[in-house]
Amino acid sequence: MTIDIISVVPDLLNGPFSHSIMKRAQEKELLKVNVINLREYTTYARAQVDDYPFGGGAGMVLMIEPLVNAVEALTKEKIYDEVIFLTPDGNTLNQQMANQLSLKNNLLLICGHYKGIDQRFRDHFVTKEISIGDYVLSGGELAAAVLTDAIGRLIPGVLNDETSALSDSFQDNLLAPPVYTRPEVFRDWKVPDVLMSGNHKLIEEWRFDQSIKRTQERRPDLLDDLKK
Ligand code: ADE
Repeated sequence: MTIDIISVVPDLLNGPFSHSIMKRAQEKELLKVNVINLREYTTYARAQVDDYPFGGGAGMVLMIEPLVNAVEALTKEKIYDEVIFLTPDGNTLNQQMANQLSLKNNLLLICGHYKGIDQRFRDHFVTKEISIGDYVLSGGELAAAVLTDAIGRLIPGVLNDETSALSDSFQDNLLAPPVYTRPEVFRDWKVPDVLMSGNHKLIEEWRFDQSIKRTQERRPDLLDDLKK
């Protein structure tokens, strides 16, 4: 899968894909992340990409021309399954959306900045609008990094058996159960006996019960979704 990300601050995206699972996914050539500098696609002086909003008001708006220049240049090379604009007024990201997007071949992510992007670009080029939560970030880059990570780790072959996404929280609308590792006793805090029993059936049952309990306590809304 290829994820191309258009940004006015491409350096912000240097770190997130250069380590750990995202790095390995790229080394295995299961994922390719390209960060594209929007300023390379403007025809305005001094690499200008934003301007004052018509009608007045605070903040700057990303202009449509550089965005369209960038998208049209990129679509000469490949066809995108989705052009996704990261924005606080988009649909809130969840595991189901990440699962669906992980099945695509080519995604183009657009990071907004300042007060947003010209609505005409959203109307004519964007196919999905995604928010990563009900709070406002300074730009879409961190949101694009979150989305790319959530999708990238689900691509078949990226995770091994030990880190399998199947046991993640949310995969079955349940939160993950608690986990423990060595030492078996720290201070006087002991690991639950069942985990030391070697009885895999009992351990699975315990984990399932713990998942249900944790979900009931922390996210009862997820159980309501299950009943629908
Ligand atoms: N850009 C700014 N805030 C955002 C958010 N919460 N989600 C996605 N993109 C954003």
